[in-house]
Amino acid sequence: SVRWQGLLKHYKDYLPVTENTPEISLGEGNTPLIHFKNLSRKLGIELYGKVEGANPTGSFKDRGMVMAVAKAVEEGSKAIVCASTGNTSASAAAYAAKADIRAIIVIPKGKVAMGKLAQAIMYGAEIVEIEGNFDKALSMVREISEKTDVTLVNSVNPYRLEGQKTAAFEVCEQLGSAPDVLAIPVGNAGNISAYWKGFKEYHEKNNAGLPKMFGFEAEGAAAIVKNQIITEPETIATAIRIGNPASWELAVTAREESGGSITAVSDEEITTAFKLLAQQEGVFAEPGSCASVAGVIRQCEQGNIKEGSSVVTILTGNGLKDPQTAIDQMEIKPVSLPNDANSLLDYIGSTVTV
Ligand code: F0G
Repeated sequence: SVRWQGLLKHYKDYLPVTENTPEISLGEGNTPLIHFKNLSRKLGIELYGKVEGANPTGSFKDRGMVMAVAKAVEEGSKAIVCASTGNTSASAAAYAAKADIRAIIVIPKGKVAMGKLAQAIMYGAEIVEIEGNFDKALSMVREISEKTDVTLVNSVNPYRLEGQKTAAFEVCEQLGSAPDVLAIPVGNAGNISAYWKGFKEYHEKNNAGLPKMFGFEAEGAAAIVKNQIITEPETIATAIRIGNPASWELAVTAREESGGSITAVSDEEITTAFKLLAQQEGVFAEPGSCASVAGVIRQCEQGNIKEGSSVVTILTGNGLKDPQTAIDQMEIKPVSLPNDANSLLDYIGSTVTV
């Protein structure tokens, strides 16, 4: 088999790639689709997880960022800027490093998970923190990108959605067709919009079918669900702590056209799903990602996902991004033992055969 050379090469016929587009890649895309045997049995459906945490910077943002940065370079830009709850900034910083341009990131102080911040620092981004939340940061960078030649790489940049739609292509290829239901966390609402675009384009070319789009917001940041801007969004899932999603209308269109829904899940449901996914399926996804798993559980219980349905849940980011939230959730303390094998033998007990 041929070495995977990234999204811009693999899906060039579906993307705005021209002969002048630089060939940038960190090996993004081609992420695993895993069948969740235990959760499937529990829920009475066929559940699969698309592990976007396997991307080079640990989130789905790399799909959109490789396209946005390549086009920025093609157009002669020397700097990119974004607002971020963490993952966008990590991805922007990495691709800017690869492309040898500046990355300026604006983040809400104290509300970005440690791993994401570490990435931005290591990749050499210029970090600006503000007291305000993501929505405020986004309005700031939108304004300055209009007044300067710095390229905005939030998902309001259409190249971001172009890159991110490739995940829908992969789901269809890995499953053999579109699933009945596509479950996805919703923050700024770019990704749900990108998937829907991707499914439609893929269906047009390959007749793979179309899923119902089930989006999930965190209860304390559920602007689309409540149909009103949330001025002080709050959730344990800092990735989706957003009160005025930029792609609001596109997300509503995806919901309406697909016959799906956008609903809310509580922080408690998110943390339950977070632990369940790790402990029953061996996948450590960050809390924001687990909003989709929490949503699937609730929608199955409420009968809105029918028994036997094929469901793909998008696990948008790697659990290692946010180790603090994981540790805070752990009730179990490690067992302390003296430094000898017999104590360990005693501890393990009757399950040991000599
Ligand atoms: N899951 C994760 C892990 C995210 O980081 C995000 C968004 C989402 C889901 C929601 O996707 O915004 O397209 O609806 N993170 C952005 C960021 C806001 O700055 O990293 P969306």
